[in-house]
Amino acid sequence: MARENLPATMASTIIDPSVKENPSPSPNDVRRRSFLKGLGVVGAALSAGSLLTGEAEAQDRSGIITVGDVAILRFLAATELIETDLWQQYNELGGIQDSEVPGGSGSRLYTKALEVLDGDMPQYIHDNTEDEMTHELFINAYLVSKGAEPVSLDPFRTLPSSQATGAQQIGRLTNLMQLSVDTTWYTRYRSRTGNPDLGDTFPQAIPSIGTGQHPAIPRTDDDVQPDPSKPHHISDLTQAIANTAGFHFATIEQGGTSLYPQVAQRVTSLEVLRIVLSLGGTEICHFQTWSDKAGNSPQLSVVDPVTGSTVTFPDLNSPPLGGEDFQTNLIMPEPTAFLNRNLPACSIIRPTATKGAAMGALKAFTAGGLFIGQSPQFFKFMRTLAIEADLAVRQ
Ligand SMILES: [Fe+2]
Ligand SMILES: [Fe+2]
Repeated sequence: MARENLPATMASTIIDPSVKENPSPSPNDVRRRSFLKGLGVVGAALSAGSLLTGEAEAQDRSGIITVGDVAILRFLAATELIETDLWQQYNELGGIQDSEVPGGSGSRLYTKALEVLDGDMPQYIHDNTEDEMTHELFINAYLVSKGAEPVSLDPFRTLPSSQATGAQQIGRLTNLMQLSVDTTWYTRYRSRTGNPDLGDTFPQAIPSIGTGQHPAIPRTDDDVQPDPSKPHHISDLTQAIANTAGFHFATIEQGGTSLYPQVAQRVTSLEVLRIVLSLGGTEICHFQTWSDKAGNSPQLSVVDPVTGSTVTFPDLNSPPLGGEDFQTNLIMPEPTAFLNRNLPACSIIRPTATKGAAMGALKAFTAGGLFIGQSPQFFKFMRTLAIEADLAVRQ
């Protein structure tokens, strides 16, 4: 097919790193290249030679990714960097600090409070942290292998660390000390009729941490003072912080659980689809693990002496929750409406609608307080990545 006859979108969105620059670009080429430049794609060129047809195209596409694929991978790389940053903070204080996930030395009573949810919490925190590191490193390395620019958020590592014993004193991307934790995943995944993709909304399981600014890690050692009147000397404040973390773990990972299938629907390269499906599957593993643990959060109510707000974790097996559909040991998605209410209920990840997925994820992170203290430049950078990912179209 002659280049002139190619649909404009095809000609402008296929990247083949093996193809060299056209020495005499047409005005159209210049326009297309400036688009690529804007996306941060390096070492890539456009050519009709990279556009194959029919069977040959399907077979030879394995080494080619589109500008849209790059934009999706770059947004995913950024979210993985963000996940790595926050999980690293959790691991330093409540996980297992070792050569696989180095940094920090642990906060004894915070760790003990997390173990109230499950004795394996430090191991799971460690493993989730390591997984996110590998996601970020893999996606960035893959981008580089395709001649695309990797994502670095290093200039934005400016937020303070926890001052509690056990945390490293380094700049962070995320703030885990002023969170509003959206716990609607707890009721959404237990609903047998509702689906956010069909317009349904869901109540917060723990309303008191859904608003305001709550720590999910100890801010200082004042947050982890022993209370001899309590089992294992874990104060209600320390347990409330650990419970908040327990729910936040699942809040973060249900986001990844949705984000990957959402963007997968707009990926073009089969290899990129394989990456998105394979990494996305681990996000689901994480979510289910945390979904199980959060339900074990002990009931308590305590006034946070720093914020003055009352934090209440109710008995999750009593009204307005409780009953068969809200048993705390329901850790698999209840079947619900999917695509069309006339179809039978189905056990599914939800939401999975693809439109605006990246910006939706960014807004959810932001609304949760994760970026409190970040610079306008950070938000601009992240918004640009999200917009570009949401513009990606399956070719
Ligand atoms: Fe991840
Ligand atoms: Fe994750």
